[in-house]
Amino acid sequence: MIKKCLFPAAGYGTRFLPATKSMPKEMLPVVNTPLIQYGVEEAFEAGLNQIAMVTGRGKRSLEDHFDISYELEREISNTDKENALKGIRRLIDNCTFSYTRQIEMKGLGHAILTGRPLIGDEAFAVVLADDLCLNPGGDGVLTQMVKLYNQFRCSIVAIQEVPPEETSKYGVIAGEAIRDDIFRVDRMVEKPKPEDAPSNLAIIGRYILTPDIFDLIEQTEPGKGGEIQITDALMKQAQAGCVLAYKFQGQRFDCGSAEGYIEATNFCYENIYKAELERQRRKPLEAVELKETSVA
Ligand code: UTP
Repeated sequence: MIKKCLFPAAGYGTRFLPATKSMPKEMLPVVNTPLIQYGVEEAFEAGLNQIAMVTGRGKRSLEDHFDISYELEREISNTDKENALKGIRRLIDNCTFSYTRQIEMKGLGHAILTGRPLIGDEAFAVVLADDLCLNPGGDGVLTQMVKLYNQFRCSIVAIQEVPPEETSKYGVIAGEAIRDDIFRVDRMVEKPKPEDAPSNLAIIGRYILTPDIFDLIEQTEPGKGGEIQITDALMKQAQAGCVLAYKFQGQRFDCGSAEGYIEATNFCYENIYKAELERQRRKPLEAVELKETSVA
């Protein structure tokens, strides 16, 4: 059973400057909820309640978010405003949170390796919170991946089709399709130019990794941009055994970019925020209707 989910959150978030100068990118709100909270909710929904975060300098607000805020909570207790904290309270009450710091930002592979002491020797999930994944009305992306892991017991990366001109933003895979939505990976290229890309199937920020990945990352030399890439370690894992790529159900927004962030905000406002307001509005009415029915 997978119980742990690692959130590498030490990156500088340079694409979102100046907002990210003194604030973690993962705390950017999509409507009224920070990106990191969406990610932890997705993990919790998938049954992963041991949350491990790799943070860095200037990221302490991540820890504070998953803690009690005594003064504020006392101030709003017994008012309607308490409702707004229900979601985060549910996570705080049901998950454990542990943190470690990445001292030098040497890439995603290095950030994952930094999380090793928090994970130990077991399979775990990885969520990049700036990739917001939503599947309203259906299973979340991590839930889908955990189900797949329980069947195949190997590392799994989430993929989506991207326009050919965008391959240079992603790790891109090639492999044999073993189901419409599952590929057995045999090649992976980090940020290829369109002409060098082995396909248009791009890895997004959801992974399930078996713990042998840590030794493989340790043996990985820095690649593009001097960073230790997780794709290089995954490629070794694919050659030695098996790595699956899974075309998930749902939508993914690249909230590390302004365009993706705006799209996510519009989507969440229409599909989550307004629906919740409507539910709250209807609640007192339903209570009255229920009372009237029971009296009748
Ligand atoms: P990104 O490639 O989006 O980098 O990292 P970034 O620094 O966050 O953002 P930009 O490109 O400068 O705007 C993908 C994920 O990996 C984490 C980031 O926090 C993000 O969740 N990461 C990246 C680390 O934790 N450490 C690193 O050294 C690099």
